[in-house]
Amino acid sequence: MSAIGIIGGSGLKRPSELETSIEDLATPFGEASGPIHQGVIAGREVIFLPRHGVPRRFAPHSVNYRANLWKLKACSVRQVIALSCVGAIRPDLHPGDLVVPNQLIDYTYGRKNSLDLEDDAHTGHFDFSEPFTLHLRDMLLFAGQGVQSGRLVDAGCYGVTQGPRFETEAEIRRLGRDGCDIVGMTLMPEASLARELGLSYAALCPVVNMAAGCGDGAVDIEALLALMAVFEPELLAVVRRICETLTMRSEV
Ligand code: HPA
Repeated sequence: MSAIGIIGGSGLKRPSELETSIEDLATPFGEASGPIHQGVIAGREVIFLPRHGVPRRFAPHSVNYRANLWKLKACSVRQVIALSCVGAIRPDLHPGDLVVPNQLIDYTYGRKNSLDLEDDAHTGHFDFSEPFTLHLRDMLLFAGQGVQSGRLVDAGCYGVTQGPRFETEAEIRRLGRDGCDIVGMTLMPEASLARELGLSYAALCPVVNMAAGCGDGAVDIEALLALMAVFEPELLAVVRRICETLTMRSEV
């Protein structure tokens, strides 16, 4: 059976079950973020990769997304669950909610966004109309039920911004007009690289602030970091439930 890959964002540290560290982070694309840990949760092999490194070394625009996804696949991962904290743009979303997005718009630039696989059959083009894998999204929604104290929100469009700065109010108004419900900095090119590699990919997005201009005053970074810490035990519980669910349904 394949392993489940968890890409931890700023709001999730390694689950304690995953004790074995994978030292070799080298890939054809350079070094993956690390340390990577592996272990078993609910009978299923799980690989945990901290997107920003430990201690935090890589800002969203300097993460080596290609190396990370390649490394996960090399570790027998076939399903990737990405954690990514977000700001809320849609007025009915609030800090404490957990969104399972179904769409995204990519506003990033200058990130290496393709593996450029040298394979005769590979034209460089592939379908990406649904950027998140449907059955994996369903699993996340099933697993998240009842674990979350905030709302578990099915669907939403994630606007991926370049960072590391947060957005201006005008930028958020534009994202809102474009149809974005939430904003974060990390799901691209992660999601499309996963697709290029043939991996299933879905995301869990804790809302940790109202986006610029959507709340009262400026984005309060201290409050946002505090909320991430409050969220962490719940996220861990959801991750454990996901592993149980995927094992019970014995997905490949
Ligand atoms: N903007 C971009 N990324 C984020 C935000 C935000 O408001 N909150 C958490 N990650």
